[in-house]
Amino acid sequence: MVCAAELVDLENATQSRSVFWDQEIYNQEIERIFDRSWLFLTHECFIPKPGDFVTGLMAENNVIVARQKDGTIKAMLNACTHRGNLVCPAESGNSKAFVCNYHGWVFGLDGALVDVPMEERCYHNKLNKSEKGLRQIRVESYRGFVFGCFDENAPNLDDYLGEFTWYLDTFMVGPGTGMELAGPPMKSLLKCNWKVPTENFIGDGYHVGWTHASALQISETPLSALAGNRADMPFDDLGMQFTMRHGHGFGLIYDAVGGIHEQPSRLREFVEKTAPIIKEKFGPERAVLYSGHWNSSIFPNCSFLYGTNTFKVWHPRGPHEIEVWTYVMVPKDADDATRRETILQASRTFGTAGTLESDDGDNMVMCTRNNRGSQIRDDVMDSSMGVGAEGRHPAYPGIVGKSFIGETSYRGFYRFWAEMMDAPDWAAIRQNDENWDAIWRDSNVWNGATR
Ligand code: FES
Ligand code: FE
Repeated sequence: MVCAAELVDLENATQSRSVFWDQEIYNQEIERIFDRSWLFLTHECFIPKPGDFVTGLMAENNVIVARQKDGTIKAMLNACTHRGNLVCPAESGNSKAFVCNYHGWVFGLDGALVDVPMEERCYHNKLNKSEKGLRQIRVESYRGFVFGCFDENAPNLDDYLGEFTWYLDTFMVGPGTGMELAGPPMKSLLKCNWKVPTENFIGDGYHVGWTHASALQISETPLSALAGNRADMPFDDLGMQFTMRHGHGFGLIYDAVGGIHEQPSRLREFVEKTAPIIKEKFGPERAVLYSGHWNSSIFPNCSFLYGTNTFKVWHPRGPHEIEVWTYVMVPKDADDATRRETILQASRTFGTAGTLESDDGDNMVMCTRNNRGSQIRDDVMDSSMGVGAEGRHPAYPGIVGKSFIGETSYRGFYRFWAEMMDAPDWAAIRQNDENWDAIWRDSNVWNGATR
């Protein structure tokens, strides 16, 4: 068993490079992180009617998510209880049952085994069908976003998201009915470790002006001001970074919603028009969030950019490859033109062939592959940017870093990653609830702060 506390040095803000390469670490991640966390499955808007289903992934497990006759949602392993074949090969549809392609066992919408070809003759009344249903998975929704969890002892989804819901509600509830996803998702493969894009989305404000310099420059959008890290770039009042108890986090650029969309941006106009409602409903601190641009990850492998409105899941396929599923977030209250434009702009920038998406891909692949070298892998990565410039904030929950360009949320992600990797169960994780913020506790950087 790997000791993750030896891989993540909280005091010196480093992580071992082996976290991107070693098979043993990956195996432990599957068991200790993916088998115990809430993983994004789908949005309720994709399965509105009884019989509607989508298939998806929880790490490398194929799953079915289906709307039941009573309107509830069930999730189950997409694996036949006879010989393990994929029961449902379709990506989505509407069905009364799932019939296995191999020998024809029939499972109901709820996963119960309802029919077995030639059952009496073949099994001599010895097959107990009630014990052979598809294995059920815990499933819960937050504002229409459906998550699944294999661990019966994990907290419920609301507690797992924790203080992050205070932030997310700003746009997930929004001015009216909240947010949904446009899909089906675009899918692609990338030869990188799943944590490289997760850590990038959770808080890498540093790479934006450099990796994306040319894409930002030619697009002539408000965020073009970041291209090339010029000396006149607005730095000190650019934004903030946040990290939460369970490793979720984000970076915020003030007043930058729609900031890499072509201008004028209908999404930005929608937000400007509805911002007074948010201020009234949620207060001025969250109004600041609503008009900003977020780069964010929900622990462990779901990321989004609010303000560009791409929404991604990085499904691991071994330590060196991921399957990327990309959706677009659209406000349910937006008109059709805003909806269409948001989908186009999000796809242009962060779709599979998006201008900024392609910039990131090369770095993500090389950050993984470079660790083939035994000496390179033996070294550490640095995430010390902004150490000492972060702490508890009078208005914002979690730990807040003073700059958008910092690594507060990186450090928070790896702090929880190591905790989950080493904890034998959720009871042990809960025991740390009082002390999770110990590395930031003495900081008083936000005393007297208004933002
Ligand atoms: Fe599914 Fe045999 S593997 S019916
Ligand atoms: Fe990027």
